[in-house]
Order: sequence, then structure tokens, then C-alpha cells
Amino acid sequence: MGVAALALTAGAAGTAYAEDVEVLHWWTSGGEASALNVLKEDLEGQGIGWQDMPVAGGGGTQAMTVLRARVTSGNPPTAVQMLGFDIQDWANEGALADLNAQAGEEGWDEVVPAALQKFSKSDGKWVAAPVNVHSTNWVWANKQLLDELGIAEPQNWDEFVVALEKVKAAGKTPLAHGGQPWQDATLFDAVAMATGGPEFYEKAFIELDPEALGSDTMKEIFDRMAVLRSYVDENFSGRDWNLATAMVINGDAAFQMMGDWAKGEFLNADQAPGEDFLCFRFPGTQDQVTFNADQFAMFAQGSEVGPEQAALASAIMSPAFQSAFNVVKGSVPARTDVSDEAFDACGKKGMADLKAAAASGNLYGSMAHGHANPAAVKNAMYDVITAHFNGEYDSDTAVDELVTSVEIAQ
Ligand code: BGC
Repeated sequence: MGVAALALTAGAAGTAYAEDVEVLHWWTSGGEASALNVLKEDLEGQGIGWQDMPVAGGGGTQAMTVLRARVTSGNPPTAVQMLGFDIQDWANEGALADLNAQAGEEGWDEVVPAALQKFSKSDGKWVAAPVNVHSTNWVWANKQLLDELGIAEPQNWDEFVVALEKVKAAGKTPLAHGGQPWQDATLFDAVAMATGGPEFYEKAFIELDPEALGSDTMKEIFDRMAVLRSYVDENFSGRDWNLATAMVINGDAAFQMMGDWAKGEFLNADQAPGEDFLCFRFPGTQDQVTFNADQFAMFAQGSEVGPEQAALASAIMSPAFQSAFNVVKGSVPARTDVSDEAFDACGKKGMADLKAAAASGNLYGSMAHGHANPAAVKNAMYDVITAHFNGEYDSDTAVDELVTSVEIAQ
């Protein structure tokens, strides 16, 4: 029996598709894999065969390299997890299937927030289906350790430093961190928002204004990164983000600054928010949300979107799926019409914060996660941030390098 025939007989719910979907993604940690299973099972229930194409590496840097190689060799995967500007880059290359007809039938325009549609659409046409909204400016904390040390949730930078110092004095790791460029940039993103505020963030990272990039505020942000560097353990280099989360879960470390995919790890370890771990906004960014959204773009396999690709997109956009998936993933739905009922306290806060930030003009695409500027600029920023974090540049040099490398990357 051929592969197609096998797929046709495999459908559990009676609907079967001639082709499997091959899904390229970077959801390989424990929490991410649990969330991915929600999607896999949903599709398998509809008789859609799943070929898994995982590419490990948080933030998707490696996945994007593999994708480029696959497309170059004329063998693109069916569907690809993708962030913000990467979607736009691939759409501009004409590589993505047009999902417009289906989006129209299913009313995506009415339910997906404008901030996401900006990335899901190219030339007014839908080219990607958003599965979630993550926000990146969170801190995750070990509750027991904080209680033991008498540390309350820090409200601003100074209180955060006092808390970090207390943890250090107690012989624990204050800040769990993995020294990988995207993680350094995730930290930087929050420090930048806390230090410069939303207008500065917009000028520096979205408008790429050379004055903002070269400002005293930017120097202060790098100075604060150096302060945070002093609270990271000596084995941080190259550590994966989920292993840093495990340090908080185990009580070896007090805090991790990370997007809300970290919550997936706590849940996967049977931890409960408010009891075992705490989630709060990075001190000084309580009113802001820096976001990224995972979307699935379908690579054009012919002139029209394949039936299994359309089925995958429909499954992703279904309100029930958006609830079930995001409860496990740590993110919040990419549709505004999904109830927060099934979500835990951190998820409910995530949904409320997102709504409030969108209404008050405090919602910004995350630089670290491909939603502020295109990959070339983002990668240039990563290089400077990491070189500074590793002590290769002092803050003044980092500011100069940032201005120059962003100019070259544009
Ligand atoms: C993605 C998340 C993912 C995280 C860590 C982010 O860029 O949006 O879905 O869990 O990277 O891999």
C-alpha cells in the first residue's frame, strides 16, 4: 500500500486526506511538546496524518535556518511555525499559500486582533494562521524560596535588584538564565521597556531611530544588563531556556525572566501558579505588553492551498482548540472571542493584560521575538547584546556598535 493510500485509511473520524501535513516547528521542551500534542491529536482526530519536523532551539533561530535550506533545495515543509517579520519575508518571496478564501469563510478578520493581522497578512491577504499570543515581559519565581527569604513581588528596578541581592546572600542563584543570543535579547527587551518606557521602545526598536539607539537611555539599559549579568550563575553559557526554568522549579534559582512559554514547563512539572510559582510583569513594565505570536504559514505546494493545509489552518483557528492549546502552552488565544474560563491565574492575567495594553496603546511587538523589526536587524541587535552580556563590550561600546550595526543591517 502506498503512503497516500495508508493516509486515506488512517482517518479516525472518517475524514481522511491524501497527504500528510509535515509541520516544521521548534516546540521541543517538555511543556512545548505537551502543547504540540494537543494540536497533533486534534488533527489525527480529523484523519489528517502528521509528519513531525522538530528543530530544537528556543526562539526558532535554528528552525529558520533549516527552513531556508529546505526551501532552497526545492522541498519545503507543508506548514511552518513562524514569527512576525519572518512571515512577511517569506510572503514577499512568494513562498506562502494564500489562505484568504478560507479566512473569509471563517471570519478571521473579525476575531484576530489588528496587532496580529499585521503579521498574518501580506498585501491584504491572509498567509498565516495565528495559534496564540505570547508575551515576553514576564518574571517567573519560586514561591517557597521568595517566602523563605521574605521577598515580595518587586515593583520597580531598584526593588528587583534588592531582591536579587537577597537571594545571592542566601547562596542561591538569583536569576536563572541561559546564555544564548535570543535569551539575552529577551532579557534586554524587558530591561529596555522598563528603563526607557513605551515611547522610547517604539523609537529605538520599531522605528530604529539612530538617536534613540545611541542615547544615554540605551547606555543605561546596557548598564542594567551588566547588573543582571552579576546575578546569573557561572554555568549559564549556552544553557537552554527550559533548563533555566527547571532551576526555578527545583528551587536552585529564585527568578527567571522569560516569555510565558515558561509557564508550560511549570505546568508540565505539576506546579500550580500562586502555590508553587509566581508570574508577574518585569518590574517597571506592569502596564506594557511586549508580544509575539506563533503563526503557521503554509508553504505553497502548487497553485492552491492543499486540503490538508486548509484543514490544519481551520483546526488552529477553532475557538475550542485555541482554548485547549493555549491553556497548556502558557500563551493566550489569538482570537478575541475565546473565554478565559479554562485558564489559570497567570493565563487570565495574560489575557486581561493583553486586552488592556491593546486598548491603552501599550502593546508592542517584541524585538527579541521577531515582532519589532526584520530578521537582519534583529540578528544585528542580538550580536551586540550578547557581546556586551559576555563582557566583550562595555556599555559605551555596545551603544556605538548598536547604532552602526543596525544601520548596516537595514
Ligand atoms: C515561541 C514560543 C516558544 C519559545 C521557546 C518563542 O519564540 O514563540 O512558542 O515556546 O520561542 O522556544
